[in-house]
Amino acid sequence: MKKPPSKRKQMLLNGPILVPRPSQRRFYGHGIPNVDRNRLGGKLIVVEGADGSGRSTQITRLREWLEGCGHATVQVGLKGSTLVSEELDQAQKGNILSHTTLSLFYATDFADQLENTILPGLKAGFMVLADRYIYTLMARDLVRGMNEAWLKNVYGIALIPDAVFYLNVSPEQLVQRNFAKTHALDYWESGMDLGLSREMFDSFLKYQALMAHQFQRLQSIYGFQIIDGNRSPDEISTELKRKIETVLTGK
Ligand SMILES: Nc1ncnc2c1ncn2[C@@H]1O[C@H](COP(=O)(O)OP(=O)(O)O)[C@@H](O)[C@H]1O
Ligand SMILES: [Mg+2]
Repeated sequence: MKKPPSKRKQMLLNGPILVPRPSQRRFYGHGIPNVDRNRLGGKLIVVEGADGSGRSTQITRLREWLEGCGHATVQVGLKGSTLVSEELDQAQKGNILSHTTLSLFYATDFADQLENTILPGLKAGFMVLADRYIYTLMARDLVRGMNEAWLKNVYGIALIPDAVFYLNVSPEQLVQRNFAKTHALDYWESGMDLGLSREMFDSFLKYQALMAHQFQRLQSIYGFQIIDGNRSPDEISTELKRKIETVLTGK
């Protein structure tokens, strides 16, 4: 049997293994019942940002880096729940639900992942990487005129993450990146349901400006870290790694 690399060799390969310090866990509000918050060992790291802001790119890099450092990782994201993701897709295709019903559908998707992936992952000491969290969901609903107190109450189930990074990218860059990636803009990510413009490109710019405004407001409440996402993927991941290292060492 091959001998595992010595601790010293592993340090030379990947740098020192950062064993996360346990953090004081809290929910935003009422939380989920029967959760022993003292037994959630891993870390919950959230990457937020608009469509095309580079979240997937950065999360892939972070996972490789964290796993290379010896951490187990798991990823969650919007519409990631096996319970409702298909139905949610169907409902969006038909554009048949009211804002409130669609919002509750997303909240269900979130709650399912919280209960079945995020909390068990943390309990097992995993690094949980979230490709968006409650903030995108809240910002989308706020743009659509929903009541903020009601939303805060719904998302009171959410666990407060160890770090939240918001990739801030200019709308013009977002358009370019989305076109380069899929040659199209997404109906919902362009806010076409809001009737801002009949032209998708124009609607995308207007909608992203509204979303950016809501994110600024949410940032002042939830205090997430704003990362300049207009830079190269390398520059962004270097900054993210540095910031996550401080989370792992609890500094
Ligand atoms: N920092 C960057 N600079 C330029 N292009 C980028 C950058 N990060 C990602 N991209 C490219 O932009 C597109 C969208 O990135 P992606 O990571 O899929 O975004 P998201 O998951 O936020 O929608 C992809 O084609 C990707 O290769
Ligand atoms: Mg993505």
